[in-house]
Amino acid sequence: MESSIAGSFGNGIVLITGSTGFLGKMLTEKLLRCCSVNSIAILVRSKKGLSASQRVADMYKQSLFDRLRSEKPDFIESIRIIDGHLDDLSMGLSSSDREWMVENVNFVFHCAATIKFNEPLELASKINIQGTEHVLELASQMKNLKGFVHVSTAYSHCPRSLIKEEFYHVPITAKELKNVIVDEEFSLKVLEDWPNTYTFTKAVTENMILTNGDHLPISIFRPSIIGCTKSEPEPGWLDNMNGPTGLVTGVMVGFLRTVPNIGSNITDIIPADYTVNALISVMWDTVNRHKQSNGVNKVPKIYNYVSCVESPLTWGRYIREMHDHYYVAPPLQSMWYGFYIFYTNLIVGSILRFFLHRIPGAFMDLLLILCGKSPKMLRMYAKTENMIDLLYDFSTRQWIFDNSNSRELWSSLSQDDQEKFRFSLQEFDWKSYIKSYYYGIRRHVLHEDLSNVEKATSKNRQLLWLHRLFVVLTIYAMLQFCWTFIKYTF
Ligand SMILES: NC(=O)c1ccc[n+]([C@@H]2O[C@H](COP(=O)([O-])OP(=O)(O)OC[C@H]3O[C@@H](n4cnc5c(N)ncnc54)[C@H](OP(=O)(O)O)[C@@H]3O)[C@@H](O)[C@H]2O)c1
Repeated sequence: MESSIAGSFGNGIVLITGSTGFLGKMLTEKLLRCCSVNSIAILVRSKKGLSASQRVADMYKQSLFDRLRSEKPDFIESIRIIDGHLDDLSMGLSSSDREWMVENVNFVFHCAATIKFNEPLELASKINIQGTEHVLELASQMKNLKGFVHVSTAYSHCPRSLIKEEFYHVPITAKELKNVIVDEEFSLKVLEDWPNTYTFTKAVTENMILTNGDHLPISIFRPSIIGCTKSEPEPGWLDNMNGPTGLVTGVMVGFLRTVPNIGSNITDIIPADYTVNALISVMWDTVNRHKQSNGVNKVPKIYNYVSCVESPLTWGRYIREMHDHYYVAPPLQSMWYGFYIFYTNLIVGSILRFFLHRIPGAFMDLLLILCGKSPKMLRMYAKTENMIDLLYDFSTRQWIFDNSNSRELWSSLSQDDQEKFRFSLQEFDWKSYIKSYYYGIRRHVLHEDLSNVEKATSKNRQLLWLHRLFVVLTIYAMLQFCWTFIKYTF
């Protein structure tokens, strides 16, 4: 058994799907910086008129790779770009790339997926279920495969309230789903208890792995909600507006002014670098497990990677502490003073949205039209509110997770590995994490560094006065309206 995680890659070749995504990028960076890999093959598709290699060249210019660039300036030489996709059995691969992978790849991290909650069922199935089937088919031909980790989600079986590290029944198999015509009526019927196509297709995929992947050294990794990094390669790194990040960013810039009251509920955020460390550790465990069983494959092991068991964080604390940092360093590009009104009742929510989002949005669109620009605010509000509604299910519901396999894995790591691949969330320091998160959003999402804090604070003071004036005028107008109403009615 290889005791060191870094060493367990033993100069081997790793294949990563989804390497252009949030998790895949971070995984590539950590493997190249800290593990003894020979090289990494990344499956990348051409997109928006850019070839796979053009996309990769742009990607490695990102600040995420700065530390790696300084520690290993020639890291790009360890990367082999495989032009391909998940969309059909051929995966768009050239015969030479396919042959090379069959002969050489030792480890597969399957991260690629569509993570859009509202993706049409047909497309979500094609990418998430059939796409995984194609990667499994390729992996089963690999002559020296030592480990395969499939990245799922902690919410794949979200209709259940207790989620153990187990396979659960799904209403339809991958094979059955492939053979039916997926129209709207069918989608509604088959989705049944699942709130969206993302979690549903992830659940079906897990079951497909149980039947199609049982001959491989395979594990399933289920992370919850991946937030910014805790410390590696730098604190606060992130590059997307998914989930809680989008909500906080919207409030920070004064765009979102009313949000559902989910304060006392748990938001199961996990730091991105910890997630990558856990994912790499799962690969180490998978390889060792397979070795110890003398190559006889057993039921794939599942690892729930969540924060709520060891260090639960409430939405209330997350939003409140983010706001504390907002007062110290608001963003310069704020469109209004950052405030929010919570709603618990959905009808009240719709009324608040009308007054706090739609009316100001329509007014700003009018200004844009008068300035000769295209209107966009109402469209942005519709899109964002739709995202909040999709998140609503995850924000208002609570789950009990069992993460024994992940905790056992952590305990089995040597002290050295625990330092290099930290992923335990026991006594996690949320205070400093939320601070890094706030400044990470400011820097990497809003592209503002700390040099503008003085200017931003001064602008924010003016916005606060404008906001107060507006509140006073609104109260005055409402009182006037009531007074006129009473006068003419009685
Ligand atoms: N982010 C989270 O909070 C979270 C939480 C739990 C689980 N996960 C899981 O973690 C994995 C990675 O998520 P992420 O946040 O990194 O998502 P992401 O940023 O959206 O990345 C998705 C990746 O999948 C690739 N991809 C999608 N469709 C493809 C196709 N048809 N062919 C080839 N590649 C395709 C994308 O490539 P392009 O760049 O070409 O589009 C991208 O590299 C997913 O399996 C997700 O379910 C994520």
